Order: sequence, then structure tokens, then C-alpha cells
Amino acid sequence: TVYPDQRSASLAVAARIAKLIREKQALGKPAVLGLATGVTPIQVYAELVRLHREEGLSFANVITFNLDEYYPMLPEAAQSYVTFMNEHLFAHIDISRANIHIPDGTLAPDAVAPFCLAYEKQIEELGGLDLQLLGIGRTGHIGFNEPGSAPNSGTRLVTLDDLTRRDASRDFGGKQNVPVKAITMGIGTIFKAREIILMAWSRKKAPIIRKAVEGELSGEVPATYLQLSDHVEFVLDEGAASEL
Ligand code: GLP
Repeated sequence: TVYPDQRSASLAVAARIAKLIREKQALGKPAVLGLATGVTPIQVYAELVRLHREEGLSFANVITFNLDEYYPMLPEAAQSYVTFMNEHLFAHIDISRANIHIPDGTLAPDAVAPFCLAYEKQIEELGGLDLQLLGIGRTGHIGFNEPGSAPNSGTRLVTLDDLTRRDASRDFGGKQNVPVKAITMGIGTIFKAREIILMAWSRKKAPIIRKAVEGELSGEVPATYLQLSDHVEFVLDEGAASEL
């Protein structure tokens, strides 16, 4: 779906999330959301905060699983996805802390694999993700599933692509400070969500959006795997859609 601009697209995505939360509330059930970081979802989160403050949208029944986190990473670091999520969403809504899940960047190396398995299991035991939000990196990564990721991959420790580290270098004051690794949900984890929304804004994302939507299916561009899903929607502004 192509919207005239990022703002109208973000409001539409936030409205869909709010509708899902309210429907689940009416059924007395939790809404299980997969969340993304990056610049892309910021306006969606801002609108959810506004709906909470001004229209009484409650997040009391919401359970969240974030896609990824740098490794190693302290939660209190300015660049952590914990800090990002608190700043843009969690600190401003009535979600229970116990319902927030973000991959743990502080684990000892031998604790990472068991943590990843447990992350998958927690999602499964809740009946799976109702909705997964995605951005897209310039390598075609979703979450931190870089080129070479398998379509059935699960939550795991990955090595970041050089381009991804370069793109993150501004946040870290230089590429040399960007962690080399990250913990990410897998493509297989993302695929199991009942609904997937991938968002992209501006001409900067147009070439990778073209590859993801129209390019040949390839592990070199992990987002092309989404072509295999019948429950994914690309939500774009005109800039990001300009090469389709
Ligand atoms: C990071 C995140 C991804 C995100 C991507 C795009 O690599 N791990 O989940 O989609 O950046 O970021 P942005 O939205 O800032 O363009």
C-alpha cells in the first residue's frame, strides 16, 4: 500500500495496531506484538502514545517481543534498543514491564543460545505473534537477518554486515564502535506471525524496496523471502515506492 507520505502511512499502521489491541481486549485476550526499532517506526509509536494519552487506548493486555538487539549491549546504553523502546514507546504507555521482551545484550556467550531458544518458546506458548512490524535495512535485512540468512532461521546470534555497521555508525560515533554482532529473531520466527507489516519511507529505501518486492528470491536479499508469505503487507510512502 502506497501512502502519499510517511505521516499518513504511520497513522494508518498505528490505527491497525490500536484496532487489534481493542479487539483482543474485548475477547479478554492478550495482543502479542513483534516490534521493530530504527527511524522507520518512530511515528507509529508516537501515534500509539497519543492514542493512549488522548483516546484512552490501554496497553494493559499487550505483550511485546522486539526483533533484535546489538550484542554485546548494556540496556542503559544510549544506543541500546531497550533505551530506544523506552524513549519512543514503553515509558509513555501503561504496558506492564513483565510483558516487555527484548533480546538480552548482556548475556555471557554460552548463555546466548539457550536464551534464543527460550525467546522462541515464549512466543510460541503465547500462541504466536499477532502482528510483526518490520523496517528494512539497506542490505535487505529484516530484524538483523543479514544476507545469507536461511528462510527457516530462528532467534540467534548473527554477525552484522559491513553496510549495516556503517549505517549505524552515526549512533555510535564511528563504525569502529558499532558492535559486530546482534541477537535477532529469525526469518522463520518473523514468518510465523499472523500478520507482517514492513514499512519503508523515502527514496533512500527505493532501491532495496524494489529488490525486495520485485527482485528474484534470494538469500542475498533476505527481505525477498517475504514474497513467499501471503500475510505480509509493504506499507510505503511515495519515495520508497518510486522505483516499483
Ligand atoms: C536496524 C534494525 C532493523 C531496521 C533497520 C532500518 O538495522 N535492526 O530492524 O529495520 O535498522 O533502520 P531505519 O528504520 O532506521 O532505516
